[in-house]
Amino acid sequence: MKQFFSVKDINSISAIVNEALALKRNPFSHEDLGKHKTLGLVFLNPSLRTRMSTQKAALQLGMQVMMMNLNQDGWALETQDGVVMNGTNVEHIREAAAVMGVYCDVLGLRSFPNLQNQEQDYSETLFNKFQQYNKKPLISLESATLHPLQSLADIITIVEHLKPGVKPKVVLSWAPHIKPLPQAVANSFSQWMCKAQEEGLIDFIITHPEGYQLKDTFIAGTTVTNNQTEALVDADFVYVKNWSSYHEYGQILPVEENWMLDQQKWQLTNQAKVMHCLPVRRDLELASELLDGKDSLVIEQAENRIWAAQVVLKQILETLNTAV
Ligand code: CP
Repeated sequence: MKQFFSVKDINSISAIVNEALALKRNPFSHEDLGKHKTLGLVFLNPSLRTRMSTQKAALQLGMQVMMMNLNQDGWALETQDGVVMNGTNVEHIREAAAVMGVYCDVLGLRSFPNLQNQEQDYSETLFNKFQQYNKKPLISLESATLHPLQSLADIITIVEHLKPGVKPKVVLSWAPHIKPLPQAVANSFSQWMCKAQEEGLIDFIITHPEGYQLKDTFIAGTTVTNNQTEALVDADFVYVKNWSSYHEYGQILPVEENWMLDQQKWQLTNQAKVMHCLPVRRDLELASELLDGKDSLVIEQAENRIWAAQVVLKQILETLNTAV
């Protein structure tokens, strides 16, 4: 593996999940693979899980880790080309990314969308520039449009809870929120579940209110309904997540019904496992009774972020070591 931006960077979901689960059983099986290699984790936005799980994964592979909170601790970054830098931005991404590439063997970058300009966000300009100038393998720690380490952890978690001989029904269910959130987690989850569906692992369905349709390219091959009740019937896994409108970009649209998953709605399911990427706003996005209940997988998902990161780093290190 040379980079990790999306599901397109892997060959087979089953194969990478099995490799991740082997690492989970034996975390230090490749403890020398990353010896004398440095991972740089660069954050333009807050993080708990991504920061700690990716660091732990790297340490278990013998890597050294450097963190940079670029927005807080770095120089104000200019990302546009061809501008005279006579304003508040101090350092151009060309130099900043190149310098971090000199210090590190592998880089991870988190950069959320601004939710103002759909074209700019969905062209992943910042990620592309960062990769172009640093010249080292780059891992997405969540970009403007996708969160692949989260989705890999999610499918690992689902596979761990598969029942023999049963192809589960997995539902992505939109949830309310007070702020406009990126579509990245939903896009990414959908992209990975569509591939898992192609591989025959699951059946996948998305439910959201009118106006919240995701970009076509991320939902190809799946069923989408505005009828949450219909979607929840017989569900084996319900993945709860808010996102702002893609088509009315970054907007929170009026929704009359209550879309929060609670115990009453959960009764429609096949005793579904309840999932969320975290952080979650209790009793706004998801009822506490479900979060705290026996069918909640949210902490297991967060734990599996370690093995998602570790398998990705392992594959990148193997590619790097082969190239030497
Ligand atoms: N789920 C997730 O990416 O968590 P953090 O934003 O805390 O990293």
